[in-house]
Amino acid sequence: MDRNLALEFVRITEAAALSSARWMGRGDEKSADQAAVDAMRKAFDSVNIDGTVVIGEGERDEAPMLYIGEKVGRKGLDSPQIDIALDPLEGTTICAVGGVGAISVIAAAEKNGFLHAPDTYMDKIAVGPACKGVIDIDLTPTENIHRVAEALKKPVGDVTVVILDRSRHSELILEVRKTGARIQLIGDGDVSAAVAAGWNDTGIDMLIGIGGAPEGVISAAAMRCLGGDFQGRLKFRNEQEKERATRMGIKDLHKKFTLTELASGNVIFCATGITDGPLLAGVKILPGGRAKTQSIVMRSQTGTIRNIDAHHNFSIKPLVL
Ligand code: FBP
Repeated sequence: MDRNLALEFVRITEAAALSSARWMGRGDEKSADQAAVDAMRKAFDSVNIDGTVVIGEGERDEAPMLYIGEKVGRKGLDSPQIDIALDPLEGTTICAVGGVGAISVIAAAEKNGFLHAPDTYMDKIAVGPACKGVIDIDLTPTENIHRVAEALKKPVGDVTVVILDRSRHSELILEVRKTGARIQLIGDGDVSAAVAAGWNDTGIDMLIGIGGAPEGVISAAAMRCLGGDFQGRLKFRNEQEKERATRMGIKDLHKKFTLTELASGNVIFCATGITDGPLLAGVKILPGGRAKTQSIVMRSQTGTIRNIDAHHNFSIKPLVL
């Protein structure tokens, strides 16, 4: 995949972040999400790809834009075929309440590089490069935490595990507490948390627990670039979700998906902060019609990770609204 695409994609996440950040803390999830979707959809038009959304805003009948199967990009004769996994606003509630760690994110792969995950839940475990190969979602959380502590050469009590604060995780939380590991409970945003586990010096060592399956594929793409590890298993809430997964080509509904089964081949990941988080600073809206964004752009092919601080001047380049 052309390396320049990575920088094209970051312009798209910046556009979505700048638009949705206007809605920070205004208690209106729908408008914040819509602003991100509209800006991202429009920004795709300038990128020279023959893109297909494989992880998006939902099925065609429920999402008018950036739906699964939608073609994106300015398709020309020489445009590469790219599969796109996106979340214009990951952490809708976070943005609406002005909380921690909302991001706008795009992952891209060569054709068929991503698992076509249905919009159901996924049991996940994510760790950074030092723990690659030591985790196994079939082991208990206790066993995985001990393995991570050993790989990181630190006491279990110094391991920090991020878990989504949900009632479905009450037993998991009790078990992790019994190990003595530290827990960071988050209200939303497990992509940001997974990436933070793979990133230096965030102080986060692991993500464990059940979150969205599409977010799992996006997190796996990030882990491919960071050299970390990720495993997932789909979790269905009802029979319709199982049927949908089967229709989408998932043969074994109980399969353990490894990192490369979720995101294979050359992968690009980029994200822009919307609200301040462990990974990225949020959009800063400045006087004089200016703003600042912080993004991360990574490629699995080279392992290059770029932090991009951008200064935007809307009097010269107006914000797409
Ligand atoms: P949205 O941005 O779509 O609201 O997702 C936020 C999120 O917290 C994800 O990060 C996570 O994977 C999922 O929701 C968890 O789902 P639920 O809120 O149903 O537990």
